[in-house]
Amino acid sequence: MVTQNPTRPATSSAIGAAERVLEVKNLFVSYVTPRGQVKAVNGVSFFLRAGERMGLVGESGSGKTTTALSLLRLLQPPAEIQGGQVLLDGVDLLRLSEAEMRRARFAEIALIPQGAMNSLNPMMKVGEQLRDTIRAHESSAGSKEIDSRIEKTLNSVDLGPAVMDAYPHELSGGMKQRVCIAMGILLSPKVIIADEPTSALDVVVQRQVMETFGRVQQEIGAAVILVGHDMGLMAQFVDRVGVMYAGKLVEVGPVRDIFKDPLHPYTQALIGSLPTLQSKELFRGLSGLTPSLLSPPPGCMFHPRCPKAMAHCSVEIPELVEIKPERWVSCLLYEGSQL
Ligand SMILES: Nc1ncnc2c1ncn2[C@@H]1O[C@H](COP(=O)(O)OP(=O)(O)OP(=O)(O)O)[C@@H](O)[C@H]1O
Ligand SMILES: [Mg+2]
Repeated sequence: MVTQNPTRPATSSAIGAAERVLEVKNLFVSYVTPRGQVKAVNGVSFFLRAGERMGLVGESGSGKTTTALSLLRLLQPPAEIQGGQVLLDGVDLLRLSEAEMRRARFAEIALIPQGAMNSLNPMMKVGEQLRDTIRAHESSAGSKEIDSRIEKTLNSVDLGPAVMDAYPHELSGGMKQRVCIAMGILLSPKVIIADEPTSALDVVVQRQVMETFGRVQQEIGAAVILVGHDMGLMAQFVDRVGVMYAGKLVEVGPVRDIFKDPLHPYTQALIGSLPTLQSKELFRGLSGLTPSLLSPPPGCMFHPRCPKAMAHCSVEIPELVEIKPERWVSCLLYEGSQL
């Protein structure tokens, strides 16, 4: 890939600027509906370092899946990417042609979609689906070579070669999920986005699948964005967390810091509702309604529910800024504290 000239935001720290494999800048995505534009992703910026694991959390409808799908340009109408950049190793994916984007998917950036198990084609044997993925990118690869690569990949997610001859419905949920992980890592992408990869599985299987995912991710050195609600899983799996609220990132920081010392009032409420760090708790949201994304409130999106809201919170839109090393927050309480 040709490297453009990624500019470092003024807020980046010396550590933060190192080897960013993915940089999302000011991303805007709307669903254009007859009732108006649903502003599902409303100016989101973050970066991902090579090999790191970042979590994306937030209430249902906060825009996590829309963000994830935008990064691979997999959104369907009425969704529209209305602005921003998605820089993968400095190349803006939003400016690639469709053909270039197709080549980048799986090979550079892969998605394990929400409800991934249902994304497998029920009419095709697993082996065929995996073969298709390789063939679509490497037309010169021979069948023997392809099959041995598939066997190796299946083996790395603890599945035997017999799985190749199975239809998806013949596999258990955990096995289907492993097939989806195999598909995600098959071409050793730099970035893997996993959208609630284990939410349909029971806790024990979930843990096993995540262990496998973590191991193979490290083996191929990919960076991961893990989307989900499960704060316990986040605590165990990710290095950093981004907290989304109503289409915006309100806080980003190392997972330990987010649990120990949340900065944004929304994150504070979210963490405060969890009994302990290690306990497995699903985040179900706070009292009060999330704002309409058709006509979002002026100022900070959280101010109508915020216990610490000040007069100007209903007027001024806070920016996500780094207020201490590695801690980004978007809240007027920290105005003037930018590094
Ligand atoms: N096809 C669509 N048309 C209109 N609005 C949509 C459409 N798809 C999603 N939205 C809206 O976009 C917003 C963001 O949805 P998204 O699926 O990205 O949220 P999410 O954070 O992934 O939620 P969940 O945790 O439930 O998966 C929501 O308000 C949703 O209602
Ligand atoms: Mg979602």
